[in-house]
Amino acid sequence: MAALTLAVGLVYYPDYLNRTAQAGLLAQLEGVFRAAAPFTPRMPRTAKPFSVRMTNCGELGWVSDESGYRYQPMHPVTGERWPPIPDILLKAWAELAAYPPPPEACLVNLYDDRARMGLHQDRDEEDLDAPVVSLSLGNTALFRIGGLERNSPTRSIRLNSGDAIVFGGASRLIFHGVDRIIPDSSRLLLDQATTRALLPAGGRINLTLRRVTQSRA
Ligand code: SIN
Ligand code: MN
Repeated sequence: MAALTLAVGLVYYPDYLNRTAQAGLLAQLEGVFRAAAPFTPRMPRTAKPFSVRMTNCGELGWVSDESGYRYQPMHPVTGERWPPIPDILLKAWAELAAYPPPPEACLVNLYDDRARMGLHQDRDEEDLDAPVVSLSLGNTALFRIGGLERNSPTRSIRLNSGDAIVFGGASRLIFHGVDRIIPDSSRLLLDQATTRALLPAGGRINLTLRRVTQSRA
């Protein structure tokens, strides 16, 4: 498995999942979407809708609305508990996180080709010793990576279908965001959509595995 260290604690694994594994993961994600339909999060206070849609799996899910950002055990629309994290993702955590306690949350972001995500830090978790493990499927994202301050210098990399990136250690709180999605850069979601009606028929899916509660005394 090729691993490129981009900064201390920031490791990029190009082609971490091959095409067969990507299709297998999508099959498991279809079950997640059946149990927890994607919803449109809203910005705290302003209630402006995000351009990405989201859902979650795991004991806890990340949600955002007028009351703020938070993790909660149930879907904000249906009130149901989130479905379990699929096996392929638990295996990715075991291989990539170097952190024995299992992930508690997997945020699933769905991007259409116009969606983006502004520069932000992932800091709603209590356990900042655990890394964030991110997997990408479908169209390529231009992913912006900064430093620990909002105005630190940034660079961008392309996250392609099947790529993984891990933010841990000294890079756990780096600013990051998605500048844009490159249309028609992958056939994965188009091909799968013919047989899997609940999956988006294009765009990009990003999955981030997180540990939320403090796992060390
Ligand atoms: C996120 O920061 O929640 C998503 C990152 C990505 O889509 O690659
Ligand atoms: Mn993030």
